[in-house]
Amino acid sequence: MSRPLEGKSILITGGSGIGRATAYVCAEQGARLLVADIHLASAEETAAHVQAQGGEAVAMQVDVRDAAQVEAMVAQAVATYGRLDGAFNNAGVLGPVGKHLADNDEDEWHQIIDINLKGVWLCMKMEIRQMLTQGSGSIVNTASVAGLVGTRPTGIYVASKHGVVGLTRSAALQYGGNGIRINAVCPGFVDTPMVENGFGGAPEIQARLATLSVFSRIARPAEIGDSVAWLLSDSASFVTGVPFPVDGGWTAQ
Ligand SMILES: NC(=O)c1ccc[n+]([C@@H]2O[C@H](COP(=O)([O-])OP(=O)(O)OC[C@H]3O[C@@H](n4cnc5c(N)ncnc54)[C@H](O)[C@@H]3O)[C@@H](O)[C@H]2O)c1
Repeated sequence: MSRPLEGKSILITGGSGIGRATAYVCAEQGARLLVADIHLASAEETAAHVQAQGGEAVAMQVDVRDAAQVEAMVAQAVATYGRLDGAFNNAGVLGPVGKHLADNDEDEWHQIIDINLKGVWLCMKMEIRQMLTQGSGSIVNTASVAGLVGTRPTGIYVASKHGVVGLTRSAALQYGGNGIRINAVCPGFVDTPMVENGFGGAPEIQARLATLSVFSRIARPAEIGDSVAWLLSDSASFVTGVPFPVDGGWTAQ
């Protein structure tokens, strides 16, 4: 297979689900990885699999809400590989499903906004500082179709992901002149622990989620990973500021 990420140093937050699948795709394409997660075991499992396949990966425990930990994460990637070519800011939470806004409480607001939105901002902040010293870099943030349209069951999550799209667009404008590209990926439903835990694994629920795609199925995590790897690579050299739907046609209607 071609290896468009050969030798590139790439940081990924979120070591399960989409983050794990993206790590595998990036490693197959030659990237050297730092995988970070609040649950160290998830990051370690992903890094161990990459290493077992002959790739390079290190794991780190990081809470993306904590500026000092995020700064240390970027410093660790640079200490390990000498530079930071790419970053996939993907760690996130769904929050309660089916609870409408009038019933949400402030703890739910803070948890979702702090991880999904503040976490992405802190990651970009520290990554961009490093990339400015290099004069190059590519960042992909995980938004969602929930960053493009509203959904009834997850109002605060939708607000957080619209925020990620906004941050992505502004950051792309601010740093394009410095050789840094910044995009977001917007998946529809993907077969990960988040969906199974949030919506339940019952076949009738999975079938209902599948109807949102014109392909009548939810995505495999690697299908998101393939798009992220492309956005991180030099093949996407003229692409920036884009919320990129990987949603099986959900938002085409
Ligand atoms: N699965 C879907 O259908 C779907 C669709 C659109 C967008 N997304 C987004 O994709 C991203 C990845 O989700 P996933 O589906 O792979 O779910 P997942 O639960 O498998 O992965 C999320 C990871 O983020 C980690 N995490 C949570 N809080 C953290 C924190 N404070 N610091 C560091 N790590 C933390 C979790 O431990 C977990 O490993 C999320 O941002 C999610 O909102 C998922």
